[in-house]
This record gives sequence, C-alpha cells and structure tokens, in this order.
Amino acid sequence: MSVIVIGGNPGTGKTMIAAELSKKLELPVVQLGTIAEENGCIREHDDQRSSNVIDEDCLVEAIHNLFYENDEDFIIEGHYVDLVPSRKVKEIIILRTHPDVLRERLLERGYDKAKVNENVEAEVMGVCQMDAIFSFGEDAVYEIDTTSISVDECVNTIIEILGSNKKPEHIDWMDLLEEQGILEDYISL
Ligand SMILES: Nc1ncnc2c1ncn2[C@@H]1O[C@H](COP(=O)(O)OP(=O)(O)OP(=O)(O)O)[C@@H](O)[C@H]1O
Ligand SMILES: [Mg+2]
Repeated sequence: MSVIVIGGNPGTGKTMIAAELSKKLELPVVQLGTIAEENGCIREHDDQRSSNVIDEDCLVEAIHNLFYENDEDFIIEGHYVDLVPSRKVKEIIILRTHPDVLRERLLERGYDKAKVNENVEAEVMGVCQMDAIFSFGEDAVYEIDTTSISVDECVNTIIEILGSNKKPEHIDWMDLLEEQGILEDYISL
C-alpha cells in the first residue's frame, strides 16, 4: 500500500486538487488538518499568527494509526506532510503558486497582512519543498506551478507524474525574483 501526498503552502490549492484527484482516481482523501483535530493534536492556537500549533509527536502517532487501519491506497493532503513515513510514499506533489497570485488568494480569504506575508515569504523561499526533499529525497518530490493552470490541468499533470519515471522539476521563485531585481520586496530578513 502507498499514498499520494499533496503538500504546499496555504492557498496553493491542496484541498481543491486533492478532491478532484480523488474523484478521478477513486481514492479517498485524508486531510492532515482534520486528522490533527480529531486526534487532539492541536496544542494551542497562536493568536498572533492566527494558526494552530501542532503537537508533532501526537500527529505522527495518528498518521501511524491511519496506516495501520488502512490497507488500501489513499491521498494525503495538508501541511506537515514531512511527518508522513517516507517508506509509504512513492511520490509527493508540492503545489507552488507565484508569490503575487498567492498573496491575492490569501488576501481574498481575509487573512491579515502578517499572516499573508509569512506565507508568501515561505513560498518565495520554498520551505515546503525543502522540507519535503529533506524527508523524502529529491527524486520523490515533484512540484507543480498552479498559478495559471486549471484544477483539471493540475490533476492531469499529477496523473502523468504518477504513471511515469519522469525526473522531478523544481521551481525556484527566488531565482526568478532575483533576476527581476525585486527579491527584497518579498523577503523581510
Ligand atoms: N489551478 C488552481 N488549482 C488550485 N486552486 C486554484 C487554482 N487556481 C485558483 N485556485 C484558487 O486557489 C485557492 C486554493 O484553495 P485551497 O483551499 O484548495 O488551498 P489549500 O492549499 O488547501 O489551502 P490550506 O492550506 O489553507 O488548506 C482556491 O480559492 C482556488 O479557487
Ligand atoms: Mg486545504
């Protein structure tokens, strides 16, 4: 049994794309956020960053139980995908979105400025992708830019990746923004 993992920053499209992929492949989707909630793995709510602080040991155990209880393939989506045991993961898809478009999507959700900036900065630096590569190895981590493709196109790209031995391509917003001479506008260091 193996799982398809979909990760990425908030607003990159994980939930929408996992739902559509689930329909096409007829596989159930598990949302890590829901697993964390249902298993009491949310330690506290960080009001300043308006986000939940996860008890990682608790979530690792909950994910372990999930694998123990299921013997069919499924899709996992959410943050903290690096907590999924790597021996169960064949391919991991990290969704990426151009920082400007991601900013728009997050502002539309009504996130405050600090939270938007924090997430846009994480996207610029490629934090999710680096964490995934660290956990699963460079050859297992595929990145898809959802900036200007439809959900359907993205799902088809994922299906192509799953059935092939394609080498992963990596997306680097830092390079692009640096070339344009505007990287400092995105990073608050
Ligand atoms: N090609 C695309 N793929 C996915 N989402 C897209 C795309 N184009 C635009 N969007 C928009 O981006 C948003 C993605 O929201 P979604 O809830 O799926 O993100 P998420 O990664 O699950 O976020 P979170 O981590 O907060 O759960 C939606 O508002 C959707 O309409
Ligand atoms: Mg989601």
